[in-house]
Amino acid sequence: MQYKQIHFDEIDSTNTYLKNTYRLMDNFTFVSTDYQSNGKGRNDRTWTSEKGENLMFSFLIKDEALLRQSPIISLLSAVEVAKSIEAYKIKGVSIKWPNDVFINDKKVCGILAEGQLPNFMVVGIGINTNQKKFPEGLRRPATSLSLELKKDIDINEFKELLFPSIVNSLTNLDINKSLEYFRNHNYLLGKRVKALFDNQEFVGEVVGVDDSFCLQIKARNILMHIDSGEIEIIG
Ligand code: BTN
Repeated sequence: MQYKQIHFDEIDSTNTYLKNTYRLMDNFTFVSTDYQSNGKGRNDRTWTSEKGENLMFSFLIKDEALLRQSPIISLLSAVEVAKSIEAYKIKGVSIKWPNDVFINDKKVCGILAEGQLPNFMVVGIGINTNQKKFPEGLRRPATSLSLELKKDIDINEFKELLFPSIVNSLTNLDINKSLEYFRNHNYLLGKRVKALFDNQEFVGEVVGVDDSFCLQIKARNILMHIDSGEIEIIG
């Protein structure tokens, strides 16, 4: 499997690093770190993690054909994260559309895709691996692989499972297979949600994910297909 790896003990953000250096880097360069001083989350939030406790990495995509699939790359990556977690025999793994990975009702992984199309895309992934305590007042409850397994995991071993699976999935795209996995692990299925889409707010029930990975919400008997936006569970 063709990919390159760089590891930093400490960095501001692996996403920022690849965004600044993409011209010099190859397609499928993976950058991981033990600590980020300025980790980025979605919607301009920060992503914090104690040193050495969690897996934080980003990878670069420059391949033209793959960049044409940009809207679904982070969803396909979430599928590979979820599969790798299940390989550790953890139960209750699901994906909260578009790309958060959950274990039961707790978030274990977040993904932030950034970039500048058609030139490049950076997919940044943070997975709670060995963290045992989470700060009070988190927006949503969080968990980690070690809390679920009741023992620490080897972060390098997890990386060696996950990185090639991501490269393999994105190189030999089998969208139907990934879609089937996503549909079978759809955290939001059947839940009542509020969605902000095109600056309008919709309330409805999640009924599925369509063939383009858009979230389907039935709102007042109208079937909406949502390709981006924030989804809040209500009721
Ligand atoms: C989210 O808000 O759920 C997305 C979090 C993404 C965090 C990862 S950690 C590695 C990479 N570098 C960053 O600065 N952010 C992403």
